[in-house]
Amino acid sequence: MDSLLSGKVAVVTGGASGIGRSIARLFAEHGAAVVVADLQAAPREGDDPPVHEVIQEQMGGEARFVACDVSNTEQVADVMAAADDLGGVDILINNAGVFRQHDFLSMTAEDFDFVMDINVKAAFFVAQAAAQRMVEQGDGVILNLSSVAGIQGSAGFTTYCASKGAIRLFTYALAAELGPQGVRVNALHPGLIDTKMTTDDVPVVGSEMGEGFKQQIPMDRFGHPDEMAKAALFLASDMGSYVQGASLVADGGLLRV
Ligand SMILES: NC(=O)c1ccc[n+]([C@@H]2O[C@H](COP(=O)([O-])OP(=O)(O)OC[C@H]3O[C@@H](n4cnc5c(N)ncnc54)[C@H](O)[C@@H]3O)[C@@H](O)[C@H]2O)c1
Repeated sequence: MDSLLSGKVAVVTGGASGIGRSIARLFAEHGAAVVVADLQAAPREGDDPPVHEVIQEQMGGEARFVACDVSNTEQVADVMAAADDLGGVDILINNAGVFRQHDFLSMTAEDFDFVMDINVKAAFFVAQAAAQRMVEQGDGVILNLSSVAGIQGSAGFTTYCASKGAIRLFTYALAAELGPQGVRVNALHPGLIDTKMTTDDVPVVGSEMGEGFKQQIPMDRFGHPDEMAKAALFLASDMGSYVQGASLVADGGLLRV
């Protein structure tokens, strides 16, 4: 096993599927014990076994699954307790999120709350629960999943863009607040990544809208979740030891900011 994360305990919210699943796997490959916190253990993308089983049974690593809706603070406490059992959370990947398209003129307060409660409010309080432990130990890393949609606005995505923009500034503020206490806080901004979120929840990948976006991507393709995991590994490990309050954009060149 590689030693980039050996001895570390990583909590990955939304870790059962998509980008979170790739992160859980790669972090385990690099020696971390991983707590996967998700609504369900089975991956959204199909018949593969749950990632915590893959880590335990195929990779010989340490992993736990905790059934958790990140907007439920009691379930979040269960997640942190599972991390405590493994030695205490060192790394939080604040990844659970939802993606919806809304017509601004007809969207409802329920539409707004659904996206904001999970993408912003839950991310905020999951970070708080992890940070309380990290500050105690004087060390830790929080990585928040924002998006290119947290930097550039797109029609039809006012709620999602507002939520991911909030995560970007939350990251900068938290980096300022917790930096002196030994906690690194950064944001990862994926471009269009091929997951169930972009094929099913809002069919971008494989649709006309997606082809329009693809034409704006200099690398001329969508991203793979494993590519986001590599960016996350850099930020979460000692490779990113002096990176604080930063936005890492991994989008094939879409934004060029
Ligand atoms: N796929 C993309 O193109 C893309 C681009 C930019 C940012 N992102 C962000 O990356 C993150 C992961 O997205 P993905 O593409 O892997 O999506 P995904 O749908 O493939 O996986 C998301 C996971 O989060 C879980 N989840 C959803 N709501 C939850 C809740 N309330 N509590 C606990 N778990 C919950 C789901 O069950 C799922 O396993 C999200 O924050 C998303 O906004 C994705």
